[in-house]
Amino acid sequence: MDIHESLLDAVGRTPLVRLNRVTAGLAAQVWVKLEFLNPGGSVKDRAALAMVREAERLGDLAPGGTIVEGSSGNTGVGLAMVAAQLGYRAVVVVPNTIAREKIALLRAYGAQVVPTEAKVPRESPEHVNNLAARIADETPGGWYANQYDNPANPRIHELTTGPEIWEQTGGRVTHLVAGVGTGGTISGTGRHLKQHGVTVVGVDPASSTYSGGDGSPYFVESVGHYRHPATVDDVWPEAYDQSVLDRFVRIGDRESLTVTRRLAREEGLLVGGSAGTAVAGALRVAAELGPEHLVVAVLPDSGRNYLSKYFDDAWMTQLGFLDAPAGPFVRDVITARGLTVAHADHTVAAVAQLDADLVAVVTPRPSREPTRSAPEVVGAVRPADLRALLAGDPGRGGDPVVGHATGTPTAVGAGENAAEAGARVDGPALVLVDGRAVALEHLPDPIG
Ligand SMILES: Cc1ncc(COP(=O)(O)O)c(C=O)c1O
Repeated sequence: MDIHESLLDAVGRTPLVRLNRVTAGLAAQVWVKLEFLNPGGSVKDRAALAMVREAERLGDLAPGGTIVEGSSGNTGVGLAMVAAQLGYRAVVVVPNTIAREKIALLRAYGAQVVPTEAKVPRESPEHVNNLAARIADETPGGWYANQYDNPANPRIHELTTGPEIWEQTGGRVTHLVAGVGTGGTISGTGRHLKQHGVTVVGVDPASSTYSGGDGSPYFVESVGHYRHPATVDDVWPEAYDQSVLDRFVRIGDRESLTVTRRLAREEGLLVGGSAGTAVAGALRVAAELGPEHLVVAVLPDSGRNYLSKYFDDAWMTQLGFLDAPAGPFVRDVITARGLTVAHADHTVAAVAQLDADLVAVVTPRPSREPTRSAPEVVGAVRPADLRALLAGDPGRGGDPVVGHATGTPTAVGAGENAAEAGARVDGPALVLVDGRAVALEHLPDPIG
């Protein structure tokens, strides 16, 4: 039996488990590294502990000090746990879109949580990282962990996660599959395993910029790279070493979330969405390989963090990832003419000429996609109303259209029961498939 003088000695050495059911029909084996079994509940315990130990060694963090970090949750939890064990204060800046369970968790460890606006340009003072750096600066004894650029983050994976996987597989691992958030996990683990000839595969949300996407929002948390449309210089973390990756596999939200849910039901593995992304990627990689290959996927955190999201059927259905138990569905009652969009800064004169009943006003982003990620739609406007406005007041033609639009339209899932969706909506409905808007129109009145 393992016994430890400190909880911190229980970080790492996580189990490696073979997948047996979701892999049906595949020749290659897929094994998963259960990082959610770290004491703080995620892969981030490794980086948190390593960054703190290194800061102590360098004299950047001293007794009585305050650890400050910007984190979508897990690094914050890791740091809060380490802080509690070592007697530091912890302040964690989080984007205001993260799952509420994650905020409660940080507070449970005694950390101070500072929510900030999620969708702001990288340059904004309110951006998670900029705000965390400022708080650290202004706090006596404050130290900014900065997981994104801190070399201790990838290094601990090179020193621990990589060697563990090599030893646990008895040197049989041929492929490593992991997501890229800060890049610490894949860069460090991959760097070690590459020395042994292992192929390193990054998995990335389909619209993430890491693998060439347009940077538009997606619903799997903590992996990939979102780019705010107003960001000028899209800085990637220094913890991410692109040269370690042999290739990327791009996984859309639907596939990630479907696999996440299957892992719970078919393997008894309750894991988060980024673990679903990793396993979805691992299954695709394994499908190309013969029985001599062994694919290892890293599962970063537990599904308990996401019970109100990926494991909630209503949440899944309203975003268009799942169908309601009974129809007729929203998709059966809409006209399916598609989505007409205008950028928020387009002029009233230009939008007035569009041939559509309703136009979705979106945050500006160059895109040739016929759909838009749901969070990008910020309003609705009727070209006919704009034409009437211009007839009375031609001087408004140069106004940005957003000033004449309604607020964000209510979103409904294409697979929602049409009558139930209709009862929720007041005004036009933004119809979603896989978290992306495909139509904006009034639903017919519920019959009866
Ligand atoms: C749930 C989850 N998945 C994946 C990652 C990505 O790991 P890394 O930052 O090492 O790239 C993180 C990191 O915060 C995470 O919290």
